[in-house]
Amino acid sequence: MAPVHPSKVYICRQIPTPAVQLLANHCELALWDNAEVAVPREVLLHEIENVDGLLTLLTESVDRELLAAAPRLKIVANMAVGYDNIDLQAAQERGVVITNTPNVLTETTADLTFALMLTVARRVVEATEYLRADQWHTWSPMGLTGLDVYGKTLGIIGLGKIGEAVARRAQGFGMSVLYHNRHRHTRLEETLGAVYKSLEDLLQEADFVCILTPLTPDTHHLIGTRELSLMKQTAILINTSRGPVVEEHALYQALVAGQIFGAGLDVFEQEPVGSEHPLVHLPNVVALPHIGSASMATRTAMAMLAASNLVAVLQGQRPLTPVY
Ligand code: DGY
Repeated sequence: MAPVHPSKVYICRQIPTPAVQLLANHCELALWDNAEVAVPREVLLHEIENVDGLLTLLTESVDRELLAAAPRLKIVANMAVGYDNIDLQAAQERGVVITNTPNVLTETTADLTFALMLTVARRVVEATEYLRADQWHTWSPMGLTGLDVYGKTLGIIGLGKIGEAVARRAQGFGMSVLYHNRHRHTRLEETLGAVYKSLEDLLQEADFVCILTPLTPDTHHLIGTRELSLMKQTAILINTSRGPVVEEHALYQALVAGQIFGAGLDVFEQEPVGSEHPLVHLPNVVALPHIGSASMATRTAMAMLAASNLVAVLQGQRPLTPVY
C-alpha cells in the first residue's frame, strides 16, 4: 500500500505559537520564520509548488500567477477579515477554497476606530508631543482645545459587523448614528436607531465619518475631492478599513486647507508608509501602522481561526469561515 502523506501547509509569517501547534498536529509545515518581514515573492512562488494549504496575511498577493504555481493547493486561509489581496475569481476557477477571519476581530477593531475618533477630536497626540517638547508652561484657557465627541453625529460608511460595534460604542457617548451601505440594515435601524442616508447626505451631516467598507472596485477612491468638500469644516474622517477607499492626495489637500478638522488613519493607499508620507506630518492627522485588530488576544484568535480553516479543509471538512 502506498504511504499516506500528511497535507503540507506553508505559513507566510511567524504567527502565534498555538496556531502553529494546531497545524503541526495535523500537517507537515514549512514557514517563513520572520514576524516583521513579509515572505519575498520569489520564495513564496517556490514554496507553493507542492503545498496543499497556504496561510497568508494581507501582505501576500494571491493572484493568478501564484495560484498557477500551486497545482496541489486546496485552500488559502487569509489571516484577516479583508481579502482584497486575493483574486477570488482565479481561486474559484481553480477550485481553491478561500477563508478569512471575521467576527474574532470585530470588537478590537471597533475599539481602535473609537480610539481614533477620541484621539483626533481631543488632539491627544498633539498634546503629548507638546508636553514632551517642554511647551507646557501654564494651564491655558484655550490651549489645545479640540472637539467634543459626546452627543455628536457619527456617520458610518459600510455598516457591517465592525460598524455595528462602533455604533454600539457611540450609543454610550449619546451620539446619533447615520449610515450608508449598499443595503438597508433594518435590524440596526430598529435596535440602534441608525438612520440610512445617501452618501452625500451622510457626508454633509456627520461630525465623524468612519470608513468601514471593504475595498472593492466600487469602493476604490469612494472618498475624493468632491466628497471631502461636502463634509463640515468641523468634521473628522476616520479610516480603519483599507487605504485605497480614500484618495490620499485629496485628503491631504482638504486637511491642509482646513476644509475638515482632522483625520484618523490606520490604513494607507500603499503600505507600509514612513515619516516621509505627507499625511503623517500633519498636526491634525493621527496616523497608525494598520493596527486595527492588534490586541494579543485577537491576533491569536485570528491565527487560530485561519489554522482551523486549514485543518478542516485539508481533512475534507467544510471550512469554518469561507469567503464564498
Ligand atoms: C483585516 O483583518 O482585514 C485587517 O485589516 C487586519 O486585521
